[in-house]
Amino acid sequence: MLANSIPHPIPYQGSKRRLASAILSQVPDREFARLVEPFAGSAAVTLAAASKNLFPMFVIGDALEPLVGLWRAIIKDPTTIGETYEMLWFRERKSPIDAYYEVRSEFNRDKDPAKLLYLLARCVKNAVRFNPSGEFNQSPDKRRTGTKPETMKQSLRQAHKLLTGRCEAVTSDFSVLFRNAQSGDFFYLDPPYQGTSEGRDSRYIAGVSREQMIDALKILNQKDIPFVLSYDGHCGGKIYGEALPTGLAHRILLDVGRSSQATLNGRDDATVESLYVSNSIPLKRTNRKLCLADFAIQRELFA
Ligand SMILES: C[S@@+](CC[C@H](N)C(=O)[O-])C[C@H]1O[C@@H](n2cnc3c(N)ncnc32)[C@H](O)[C@@H]1O
Repeated sequence: MLANSIPHPIPYQGSKRRLASAILSQVPDREFARLVEPFAGSAAVTLAAASKNLFPMFVIGDALEPLVGLWRAIIKDPTTIGETYEMLWFRERKSPIDAYYEVRSEFNRDKDPAKLLYLLARCVKNAVRFNPSGEFNQSPDKRRTGTKPETMKQSLRQAHKLLTGRCEAVTSDFSVLFRNAQSGDFFYLDPPYQGTSEGRDSRYIAGVSREQMIDALKILNQKDIPFVLSYDGHCGGKIYGEALPTGLAHRILLDVGRSSQATLNGRDDATVESLYVSNSIPLKRTNRKLCLADFAIQRELFA
């Protein structure tokens, strides 16, 4: 399945859709029982792995309950969720902005996963934002209308086909999935960037400190569970997050090209993301496999 034909029904800022192939090329060529993604979001890596049949089973977890509810609905009954999305999308015809705010208020009362799907498709940058009381408070995108219902329904059906019968979706703090890690698991980790998940600028419903991440990785290393982690990065001289200490994993730098924000602002800033590959995964001699379409990828050992 080509990268752009892999379904991606949940529009989500920070999705790893474009990087999924590069990330999955780090998975060693042996049999695993499960791919576990404790910070699933739009589960771009799980969907890409399922489309390549790289794992027989998948576990997707996230702290955001309605998002996990949405995944459960996709796995069980994509038709109903698609029809509800369509109904919400067409509710906008008379007065789009008012309709958006109406759905947002309803979602903050009932936490209906279909409403979250609609809000994500229609909000600024497809980015979840919560106020300190845990209410979704992102504004509507006034220029774009969000995924058309027919396209959304098709994407939901395709994701359902890939995951049904072999994917469990769990609402939990990431630490629970780490504690339950079993031999035969492979973990892909994409926690919020440091700085986006703590303090007043809370972007996601929950967050992870650097110390918590380090402790959690130690658990995986002790259990000898291989992992790939997306963590710090930089764009145009701005650094996002502090690199992890030496010894926990190898570090690779992925040059992911120009950021969409830089493009919008007419700048030429390259975005570079770190990928940490657990020490138990043998380093590959060549990076040719990683040099995919629009990103040049360098691999370096942690200095
Ligand atoms: C950077 S996003 C992941 C994006 C994902 N890789 C994708 O392709 O869409 C981080 C996710 O972690 C979740 N999250 C934040 N803190 C968490 C925690 N303590 N435990 C579990 N999930 C958490 C957020 O709700 C968010 O969906």
